[in-house]
Amino acid sequence: MNKKVCDLILTKKTQLNHDNYLLELQSKEPLSAINPGQFVNVLIKDASSTFLRRPFSVHEVIYATNSIVILVKTVGEGTYKLVEAELGDKIDVVFPLGNGFSLPKKDEKILLIGGGVGIAPMMQMGRESKEARAEVHFLLGARSAKDQILIDEFKQHGSVHLTTNDGSMGVEGFVIHHPIFSKKEGFDRIYCCGPDPMMHAVAKKAKALSIDCEVSLENMMACGFGVCLCCVTKTNEGNKCVCTDGPVFNIKDLEWQI
Ligand SMILES: Cc1cc2nc3c(=O)[nH]c(=O)nc-3n(C[C@H](O)[C@H](O)[C@H](O)COP(=O)(O)OP(=O)(O)OC[C@H]3O[C@@H](n4cnc5c(N)ncnc54)[C@H](O)[C@@H]3O)c2cc1C
Ligand code: FES
Repeated sequence: MNKKVCDLILTKKTQLNHDNYLLELQSKEPLSAINPGQFVNVLIKDASSTFLRRPFSVHEVIYATNSIVILVKTVGEGTYKLVEAELGDKIDVVFPLGNGFSLPKKDEKILLIGGGVGIAPMMQMGRESKEARAEVHFLLGARSAKDQILIDEFKQHGSVHLTTNDGSMGVEGFVIHHPIFSKKEGFDRIYCCGPDPMMHAVAKKAKALSIDCEVSLENMMACGFGVCLCCVTKTNEGNKCVCTDGPVFNIKDLEWQI
């Protein structure tokens, strides 16, 4: 699908916990297909320091209402301003951007790993993977129980496994400490999005277990369409832009020391 710049209407806003919000953005025109793992670039109006658009993964696509849902974690001026928007407000969005994950094949057993707000792209990925008849498992890592969100919603699409750094919910520790990371689980593919150290650790495990693994990188971005080169990452084929060649990369193509 060619990317569009358009005003979407905020039709639903849900505060999930102290710093996470779901925003449902409706298009007047029918949406063409959006791949799980693609992202949108949002213009933040009336903010002093946010003239650059802010990127957010597509969390869900609701084709029946022409809506895209994004999960926003408030971390700075842009995200605080965005969640202040009111129902009916117009939000200027460029979408869909980036490549997206490769969908699994029928009967493949897959593990979708999200750390922190890295869970965002995994909802649509889980939904479409289940529709493709894959066996879907989610592994969701958070700092603490209060940061674990959307568990019931993820359960609609697969089995949910949890870790928290402080052990207040699920297995204590980081996602790679979860016992699901064992050879006997026999996953065909792993998909991961989250903080860089987490993705490196997951990539290392996947490599050791010889499991195909895709990661969605969240490098800082400026232009969002391959011009400024501020988002580049090193690959076997040289530097590539995360905004246009990614954000999803297979770990075998990245120059990671794993
Ligand atoms: C492809 C992609 C997909 C993303 N998807 C989501 C999503 O689904 N939901 C979501 O809440 N966020 C997502 N992010 C991160 C989000 O874009 C940033 O949190 C947001 O731009 C911060 O804007 P701000 O003005 O609120 O904060 P700023 O004032 O710009 O920054 C506040 C703090 O956040 C840090 N920060 C800003 N951007 C990033 C980043 N990309 N990675 C790590 N730290 C950052 C800054 O270093 C600073 O410490 C994504 C980023 C990328 C590149
Ligand atoms: S953000 Fe400008 S090239 Fe990727």
